[in-house]
Amino acid sequence: MSETNTYLIRVEPTKQSRLSQVDFNDLKFGQMMSDHMLVANYENGAWTDVSIVPYGDLSISPSMSALHYGQSIFEGIKGYKFPDGTVSIFRPDKNWERFNKSAARLQMPEVPEEIFMGGLKELLQVDQAWVPSAEGTSLYIRPFMFATEAALGVHPSASYKFVIITCPVGAYYSKPISLKVETYYTRAADGGVGFSKNAGNYALSLFPTQLANQEGYDQIMWTDAAEHKYIEEAGTANLIFRIGDTIITPHGDTILHGVTRRTIMELAEKWGFKAEQRKVSVQELIDGIKDGSVSEAFAAGTAATVTHISKIGFESKDYDLPPVEGREFSNKVLDYLNQLRYGKIEDPFGWNFIV
Ligand code: COI
Repeated sequence: MSETNTYLIRVEPTKQSRLSQVDFNDLKFGQMMSDHMLVANYENGAWTDVSIVPYGDLSISPSMSALHYGQSIFEGIKGYKFPDGTVSIFRPDKNWERFNKSAARLQMPEVPEEIFMGGLKELLQVDQAWVPSAEGTSLYIRPFMFATEAALGVHPSASYKFVIITCPVGAYYSKPISLKVETYYTRAADGGVGFSKNAGNYALSLFPTQLANQEGYDQIMWTDAAEHKYIEEAGTANLIFRIGDTIITPHGDTILHGVTRRTIMELAEKWGFKAEQRKVSVQELIDGIKDGSVSEAFAAGTAATVTHISKIGFESKDYDLPPVEGREFSNKVLDYLNQLRYGKIEDPFGWNFIV
């Protein structure tokens, strides 16, 4: 893709806004999409037809390769509204980088900065009235790309569609969650696609998560494929623990490289905690809960933000984490990030991308 390409974004405004149908006091996650979406096509080795159009159905072929062979990737990003009405997106450059890493692993084309970042900016300008402002709410942004070639041979598709849709949301989890340690099913193995944000990583989580739900747990805690001994991530977010005064997150290419996780680890360092990315065994966690050295455990993700973990189920026993009120680090992170993302304090890191 040439660096000098410029992509004119065509804008076709909706004739009938659906904004008045939204109850901003009762936002569900991912149900009511904003008025517009961005769509771009990749054909003959180049991106074309970059347009912002009214949100609506896409027409697809039944032999479209994404449906058969799974070339499909996505991102989760959030936009916020400041008290003065400014709209800001949290660290979308990091999502753009990760998106293109996912694309490379799945043999899909990269999406240029101008289309991803420039498209985001323009889409949120068009739909700025959809960005909620109350604390705990945001505009969830879902960029995704899928293979559109209508052919059943197993090969990289010759054509792709890149789309960004958005929706005003409240909390993904409205209370602390319980996790069951998964010691049979596997999310990702070395050399696989665990680090990438591809649709299949979520499809494979549904069955084991349902089994955990039937046992009364909210989510699963994935462990490594080889031994089921080391913690990887939760079904919908990364995991972070406080053990003594060290903030620790499992690390490796079988784990999604989360932007929220990265942000929190950067804050931990800045605030003088020891911050480590390393293997954490389930046994280390359970022993630490028992002897009191594990004082905090939480899920970190765009949708999940910071979601406290209430208990962990392992080998038919439950291990309760300390009360949420006493969790100094994760509560401080949540409070700080809220203030920063809603524009209530200075942004010393340049994390807010102003629309
Ligand atoms: C996100 O956090 O944005 C995700 O994509 C996770 C998904 C479960 C909503």
